[in-house]
Amino acid sequence: MARESVSKTFVVAIVLAAACSLLVSGAAIGLRSMQEANKVRDRKKNILIVAGLYDAKAAVEKSFQQIEPRVVDLATGEYAAEDQFDPETFDQRAAAKDPNLSVKIPSEKDLAGIGRREKYSLVYLVKKDDKLDQVILPVDGKGLWSTLYGFLALDGDLNTVKGITFYEHAETPGLGGEVDNPTWKAKWAGKKVYDDKGGVQLVVVKGVADESSPHQVDGLSGATLTANGVTNLVQYWLGDDGFKKLLERLKSQGV
Ligand SMILES: Cc1cc2nc3c(=O)[nH]c(=O)nc-3n(C[C@H](O)[C@H](O)[C@H](O)COP(=O)(O)O)c2cc1C
Repeated sequence: MARESVSKTFVVAIVLAAACSLLVSGAAIGLRSMQEANKVRDRKKNILIVAGLYDAKAAVEKSFQQIEPRVVDLATGEYAAEDQFDPETFDQRAAAKDPNLSVKIPSEKDLAGIGRREKYSLVYLVKKDDKLDQVILPVDGKGLWSTLYGFLALDGDLNTVKGITFYEHAETPGLGGEVDNPTWKAKWAGKKVYDDKGGVQLVVVKGVADESSPHQVDGLSGATLTANGVTNLVQYWLGDDGFKKLLERLKSQGV
């Protein structure tokens, strides 16, 4: 066989391609558990951030011990039995797609544009001296290009916003991506979700919020469609089909 030939070139190319694909797929499989662990840690970090409890110098797992995760039945507002779902391992994103663990949302009620909703949701409690100090609620819904996933924290009165954060979305950087802008997120603190009759009034307006309204948040300039998505997802998740039953139950128990 000649030292340089077409067949040798093909053999080398095939062996090289096979070796590289083995390497890449091996790395993808080998690193999957690490990626999953990183995702879980990132979610915990975001929960700590929105609750104002994040300390960059402390380990996320350690700081997270201040937070009590619970699984809630959204239809009743009651906590699910601990032997039914373990809050540590409950996969809410998977539940939202599982036909047995989710419900189809009729289009006229689907403010958040998510199609289906999980029957059970995680919520995160922060307690001080055995009294509820904060509750952190996972929220998601359509923006312009993507589904935004985030957390909304409420103070112990279960009406005043403590903070909001999105840990996953694919809105345009500089436009819809400004949902991550700390200056904009800071405008949410102190806003009230419900009016006196229990209606969800929290809204991202187009332009500047009316200072006399406790419910309005400044808009995102050039990104009104994403901002409308944020209003819709917040209103959906704080409404009757979202966490309202849980919040009303907790309020009535005076916790
Ligand atoms: C390439 C491109 C990307 C855009 N990305 C977003 C986006 O992520 N979010 C958004 O609300 N609007 C985005 N827009 C703008 C919307 O089409 C629309 O003009 C805007 O939401 C209207 O907001 P305004 O009334 O505040 O200008 C994008 C526009 C272009 C051309």
